[in-house]
Amino acid sequence: MKVITAIFIMSISLYACGSRHIPMPTKTYGDEVSCKGRVLVTYATRAGSTIDIADSISFCVSQQGYVVDLMHVSSVENLSDYSTIVIGSAIRMGNVTPEVKRFVQTNKEALQDKPTAYFIACLTLHEDTPENRAKVKDYLIPLREIVTPFAEGYFAGKMDYAKLKPFSRFAAKRMVKAPEGDFRDWEDIRRWSTTLLTH
Ligand SMILES: Cc1cc2nc3c(=O)[nH]c(=O)nc-3n(C[C@H](O)[C@H](O)[C@H](O)COP(=O)(O)O)c2cc1C
Repeated sequence: MKVITAIFIMSISLYACGSRHIPMPTKTYGDEVSCKGRVLVTYATRAGSTIDIADSISFCVSQQGYVVDLMHVSSVENLSDYSTIVIGSAIRMGNVTPEVKRFVQTNKEALQDKPTAYFIACLTLHEDTPENRAKVKDYLIPLREIVTPFAEGYFAGKMDYAKLKPFSRFAAKRMVKAPEGDFRDWEDIRRWSTTLLTH
């Protein structure tokens, strides 16, 4: 009976939390022949808005003369080909996604040897105030403690309640009090990406 109850609770939790199924794209941008180096842009998302930000970063970096591989953290097999690594996460309940934290922890040695940058998508920045900037900087503390990045990007994300499962919708509305809308500032994302590798 206990086992059946446990399975029932786990099934309900899996159904109610998280987001509806999102495809996780893998792409390559840039010209292999004349490139200055190979860059990895890797991400984890719940509702998908971080993917579009990662995609925009990848395209902009490729325009600076690099080949850029874009993929979900679970698809990354080898970091040795890359001269720079950019890691992006959605923010949920004040935290980066567990899979991004695991990725940084697992690849700590390799990442410490290469220029590594972080970016996040969150809703706190739907109002870009000094207080909110200070708050979102703290979201990256757990990653910063593992590997120190050379750059950090803080971007406003998107909230679409229809894409969320019941518990996430409840948490976003009642606990985070996140407003609905697409707050991604593509100009800001492009500006950050274009200057990223000019260090
Ligand atoms: C359940 C839930 C919790 C969230 N918690 C936070 C939070 O603590 N701080 C924040 O700034 N944004 C929070 N957000 C907003 C997301 O970070 C934002 O919608 C982001 O764009 C999501 O990225 P994704 O679409 O790639 O999953 C939350 C969203 C949801 C659904």
